[in-house]
Amino acid sequence: MTDEPDWIALAAWWRDELAGDDAYEGEITPLILDLLGDQTGSTVLDLGCGEGRIMAALSATGARPIGLEVSVSLTVDARVYGPTLVARLPRIPLADDSVDAAFTALVVEHIADHDTFFAETARVVRPGGVLATVINHPVWTAPGSTPIQERDGEVTWRPGEYFSRGWSDEPAGEGAVRFYHRSMADLLGSAASAAWCLTRIEERGATESQIRNHPGLAGQEHFPRLLAVRWENTQTAGTHGRQIQSGSYNPMSSPWNGPRWASVLTRSAPPSCPAT
Ligand SMILES: C[S@@+](CC[C@H](N)C(=O)[O-])C[C@H]1O[C@@H](n2cnc3c(N)ncnc32)[C@H](O)[C@@H]1O
Repeated sequence: MTDEPDWIALAAWWRDELAGDDAYEGEITPLILDLLGDQTGSTVLDLGCGEGRIMAALSATGARPIGLEVSVSLTVDARVYGPTLVARLPRIPLADDSVDAAFTALVVEHIADHDTFFAETARVVRPGGVLATVINHPVWTAPGSTPIQERDGEVTWRPGEYFSRGWSDEPAGEGAVRFYHRSMADLLGSAASAAWCLTRIEERGATESQIRNHPGLAGQEHFPRLLAVRWENTQTAGTHGRQIQSGSYNPMSSPWNGPRWASVLTRSAPPSCPAT
């Protein structure tokens, strides 16, 4: 996809126009901290950390945040609040079981391959550790979905292609930002397949203060705008990325001289939530 808008080009737009927005500060930061729970002394990975505003809040609670971000210029800002990595999700260049928790705020919807995202987070977060995500609700990201003002003033919702995978590009400053869509079942099923056990889920509409600040949202207070999920990692220690020798390959009878190894994600048990 050569024409995909790239977040590297959107860094200035994000920093100048949205990062300090009340809607983010007032709602998303407290929601992420609440989902993560007490992480005092824990290493917590902020995936798509932007300029590091949530790292700052987390650090103030006694956690040790690490940022990962595709934009070099944003990592320079975030570095004030903790170590930062420049990398492009869904790949996470960290060792297995190397952090206690990870989170994303408004990032998963910008990643094309969410299956690899969930597998990678399950690999780097230690067994029993937490993943928290806040995303734009899938009702909003379906291609063609939009609010409609009826003649009598009622606001209704066109669902668009909710059950398809797809994307839509929205204007962002001089450029565009891409939102990848997947249904709730697609998203939650993908996380479950990666051994993430869902322990909390919330859907939120626009708050009164958001409608006051953004009058265009009037009438949409009953539409879900945000989806917030907390998972716990049910993988067993030491079961990631184990190297296995493949099939019945015989190096002596093959033109290929080297050993053939496949790095695969292996799990010791089917994904399941721990008994409560
Ligand atoms: C909507 S902003 C959210 C920033 C931050 N999480 C916050 O809430 O303040 C999305 C962020 O994700 C980053 N991002 C987008 N795609 C990424 C990718 N594939 N890998 C790493 N970072 C990415 C962007 O550069 C941007 O900083």
